[in-house]
Amino acid sequence: MTGGSIAQRLSPASLFGLAGRVALVTGSSRGLGWAMAQALAAAGATVALNARNAETLASRAAELTREGLKAAALCFDVADPSACDAAVAQVVEQHGRLDILIANAATTVRKPALEQTDEDWARVIATDLTAGFRLARAVARHMADAGGGRIIFTSSINGMVVRPGMVGYASAKTGLFGLVRVLAVELAPMGITVNAIAPGYFLTDGNAATRQSDTGFEARIASRTPMGRWGTPDELATAALYLASPASGYATGSIVTVDGGLTVAI
Ligand SMILES: NC(=O)c1ccc[n+]([C@@H]2O[C@H](COP(=O)([O-])OP(=O)(O)OC[C@H]3O[C@@H](n4cnc5c(N)ncnc54)[C@H](OP(=O)(O)O)[C@@H]3O)[C@@H](O)[C@H]2O)c1
Repeated sequence: MTGGSIAQRLSPASLFGLAGRVALVTGSSRGLGWAMAQALAAAGATVALNARNAETLASRAAELTREGLKAAALCFDVADPSACDAAVAQVVEQHGRLDILIANAATTVRKPALEQTDEDWARVIATDLTAGFRLARAVARHMADAGGGRIIFTSSINGMVVRPGMVGYASAKTGLFGLVRVLAVELAPMGITVNAIAPGYFLTDGNAATRQSDTGFEARIASRTPMGRWGTPDELATAALYLASPASGYATGSIVTVDGGLTVAI
């Protein structure tokens, strides 16, 4: 990002443009993943959308292409080990490259820790932590050959602060911080940056069950958040765009918290 006029060098197109780039965003048929996918596509990237429900996924891809944006649909379960490697290979084969991974898909089991079974634990860790490692390993091999890339994990402020009933989820989200740090250090010489986003509370289907079963939850979170409200998915998507774009070239190993100030308030 040196040379050229000031207006050229620091234009939104040079800083945040993703034309010619290819991205894979897991868990992107709704919620935060969908918002991040839209942001990358709007910046010019070809975005491979992922989820388990093929129908929703196809309609999301169609929404993007109807607007002249570039999208593909890749239906697979991130907890399926062979599916992750196959999906990465398919993106590279179809689009010739893979520059950006956003490992975003996640699940949770809401129960007190003492009631969680081995299966509950294993399912959450497989989806929320192991899949991130597997996908990152697969994409990094391609990115290393290509001379660089961007890996972004969706963690959570629940990697830092917790509520009861989320033992696997919080453990996995905390684990992603370790994954980010080690991968950032190991992959920096290959030109690959590795960062995480830690969202606070955003209104999505992902927390609909909690909001429905605990009617005071939404207001309680808003009142404890210095900004006094929940976030909107687009407010998270811009953080992902920054981490995916040329603008963040020197940022690696970082955790970008987007939470309306929740985790710094007492
Ligand atoms: N919303 C928040 O307030 C919040 C806060 C902190 C962190 N986060 C994190 O942000 C990410 C997105 O959350 P969200 O609230 O947007 O979730 P969401 O609304 O429930 O959407 C989840 C997305 O992931 C897909 N998905 C779920 N399991 C999958 C799997 N095993 N394989 C592939 N795709 C899968 C879903 O589609 P299918 O069901 O069709 O597979 C859907 O597209 C998660 O990592 C979550 O932990 C969210």
